[in-house]
Amino acid sequence: MTNTLPSAPNFLSQVVNGILAIKPIANFAKKQARELIIKRAEAIGVPWRKEVAALQSRGENISFSPQWDADLQTVINPNLTYPEYYLQPFHAYEKGNLSWDAATEVEVAAYSVHAKIWGGENKQGDAKLRDSYHQILRNAITLPQTILDLGCSVGMSSFALQEIYPQAQITGVDLSPYFLAVAKYRSQQNHSSIKWLHSAAENTQLQDESFDLVSTFLMFHELPQSAIKDIIQEAKRVLKTGGYLGIMDMNPQAETFMKMPPYILTLLKSTEPYLDQYFTLDIKQALLDAGFRDVTITSNSPRHRTIIAQK
Ligand SMILES: C[S@@+](CC[C@H](N)C(=O)[O-])C[C@H]1O[C@@H](n2cnc3c(N)ncnc32)[C@H](O)[C@@H]1O
Repeated sequence: MTNTLPSAPNFLSQVVNGILAIKPIANFAKKQARELIIKRAEAIGVPWRKEVAALQSRGENISFSPQWDADLQTVINPNLTYPEYYLQPFHAYEKGNLSWDAATEVEVAAYSVHAKIWGGENKQGDAKLRDSYHQILRNAITLPQTILDLGCSVGMSSFALQEIYPQAQITGVDLSPYFLAVAKYRSQQNHSSIKWLHSAAENTQLQDESFDLVSTFLMFHELPQSAIKDIIQEAKRVLKTGGYLGIMDMNPQAETFMKMPPYILTLLKSTEPYLDQYFTLDIKQALLDAGFRDVTITSNSPRHRTIIAQK
């Protein structure tokens, strides 16, 4: 991949930013984006409302199980200070990732958002995206024993790693205790031994040089550039010498984004506050500046890329 990146948002992006600065329009765009995702989920055979209700009730005859709040207390780190950038509305949720609605809808949302990556509409798009990343990882790295999944959310990326590396001890880190409570519930259901840690990826408090692989799947596009750089440093600190950092996320140079119709770009940006910062960061340079070597960037879907770097 040799295309150069723009260092500032392009004209269309600037126009979209101007439009989204008008609050009623931004709210309308968020509502439209959310409705589009729910509608697509239902169309691909993911009954959004039914699945969310089942998760919230935990199969009981109540609308919201009290066990969720009990579980929240077991994962939450009361001493954590949230970075300012995290306390923003994300994905059309006013409280961003810090709510039960966000936590219980994120799985169905992933199936919907990834349904059209390879054309058509298919529930398997999400699994295919994860496979496409793992194929590249598998070719680059030999059986890691210790894996850190930064931005693990409700555990989808951690469980996928566990499936391909069943021998590994996996730790999932996330800033949302609500997401981690769902991850913990899911790991009880599938008897997994993944450890869940409520902490910032830029300051995990984990031991120096303790992981063979640090993986982060679809987190960087949610971050300002300064946080991405801090997280790269933290990944380097916790990696063993010779260990790998794997980053899977949107590919700013993919044609899909270059040619995206303005109204779709508006809907996308209305739910992703740091997209411009992510799209204009020279990630390879950031990794080299942090002291990583052998950085490779490979397209793994029509709109995603996998970056692998070695410590
Ligand atoms: C789009 S989700 C990624 C989902 C997950 N990895 C997957 O594959 O489904 C991004 C996640 O990153 C988390 N996150 C964002 N900033 C973070 C930070 N600084 N430290 C830890 N987690 C963070 C969010 O709470 C969210 O769960």
